[in-house]
Amino acid sequence: MNYVYYYMFKILVAGGTGLIGSNLITKLKQKNYNVVLLSTQKNKADNHSIFYWQPAKNELPMVALDGVNICINLCGEGIFDKPFSELRKQQLVESRVVPTNVLFEAFKLRNEPLLHYIGGTATGFYSNICEDKMAEDYTNGEGFISELVVDWEKSIQQFKEIAPLVSVMRTGIVLSEKGGFLKQLATPIRYFAGAVPGNGQQIISWIHIDDWSQMLIHLLEKKIAGTFNAVASHPVKLETLTREIAHILHRPLLLPNIPVVALKLIFGERYKLLLTSQNISNDKIKQTGFKFDFELSKMALQNLLTK
Ligand SMILES: NC(=O)c1ccc[n+]([C@@H]2O[C@H](COP(=O)([O-])OP(=O)(O)OC[C@H]3O[C@@H](n4cnc5c(N)ncnc54)[C@H](OP(=O)(O)O)[C@@H]3O)[C@@H](O)[C@H]2O)c1
Repeated sequence: MNYVYYYMFKILVAGGTGLIGSNLITKLKQKNYNVVLLSTQKNKADNHSIFYWQPAKNELPMVALDGVNICINLCGEGIFDKPFSELRKQQLVESRVVPTNVLFEAFKLRNEPLLHYIGGTATGFYSNICEDKMAEDYTNGEGFISELVVDWEKSIQQFKEIAPLVSVMRTGIVLSEKGGFLKQLATPIRYFAGAVPGNGQQIISWIHIDDWSQMLIHLLEKKIAGTFNAVASHPVKLETLTREIAHILHRPLLLPNIPVVALKLIFGERYKLLLTSQNISNDKIKQTGFKFDFELSKMALQNLLTK
C-alpha cells in the first residue's frame, strides 16, 4: 500500500489513550495514518490531534469528526479495577455503551460518509466452558460480563445504518509488558511472591498486544467487516502461563496456589473473572489471511518480559 492511500484515511480513535490504544496509535502513526483521538481527560486535549469529549453529557466537538472516514472505539472503564457493586456495574456498561451511542449520533448527523467502524469488545461474551473451541457464532453466556458484552455489541451494530463496514474485535486477554493481566501476574513473581490463582486449570485465551494492533490494521486495510475473536491460536492453562513467566524471569514459584476462598475474600464478586476458563477459536480471522506473530504463550512472554 502506498503513501497516497494512507493519506486517504483519517482515523478517529476514542479510548485511544489506554493500554491497547497507545500501542495501536503508535503502529498507525508508524504507517503514516492521519490519526486523531477523543479523550475524556481534559488535560490531554490539544484541540488539534486530541479532542476532549464528555460522552456521559452527550458532548462531542463535531470538529473532531472533520474528514474522518474510519472510527475505532476502545472506550471502557477497567473491568477489574474496582470492586463490583450495582453502581460500578452500571458504570462499566455505560462507559462502553454511552460513548458508542454518542459517536453513532454524531456520525449520523454529519454529511460525510463513514467507511469503517471498528469496536473492541471482549470474549467475556462467551460462556465459561472449554470443552469446545468457541467460534464467533457460539451463543453468549450468562451473567454480568456476558450481558455487558451483548449490550455493547448491540450498540456497535447501530453503525451498520451509516457505515458499509462494521467490525468487532472480540478480545481475549491482551498480554502487554506495560499493564493489564500480564503485569498483575508477573509483578509478584518478580518479587518472589507469585502464586497461581485457583487450581490453575483455567484456560486463558490470550493475545500479544502487537498482534492485536496488527489484526485491527489487517481488518482496516483489507476492508473486512464482521465479528472476529482476537486471540492467539493456542490458549494456555493459567498454571502453565504462570510457570512460563516464572521461568523467563528466573524466579521460583514458592507459594502454593491461591485457594478460591481467599480469592473471594480479596476480590469479592470479581473472583469469578480469575476462574474464567475459555477455549476460544481464531480460525475466522486466520481464514482472512491474517498471520499472528505470536502463536505460543512462551514466545509472547519471552518477547514481552525481556524487552
Ligand atoms: N486489556 C485487555 O486485556 C482487554 C481484553 C478484552 C477487552 N478489552 C477492552 O478493550 C478496551 C480497551 O482496553 P484497554 O486495556 O486499552 O483499557 P484501558 O487502558 O483502561 O483504556 C480504556 C480507555 O477508555 C477510555 N475511557 C475510560 N472510561 C471512559 C468513559 N467513561 N467514557 C469514555 N471513555 C472512557 C479511556 O480513555 P480517556 O481517558 O482518554 O478518555 C481509556 O484510555 C476496553 O473497552 C476493554 O474493556 C481489553
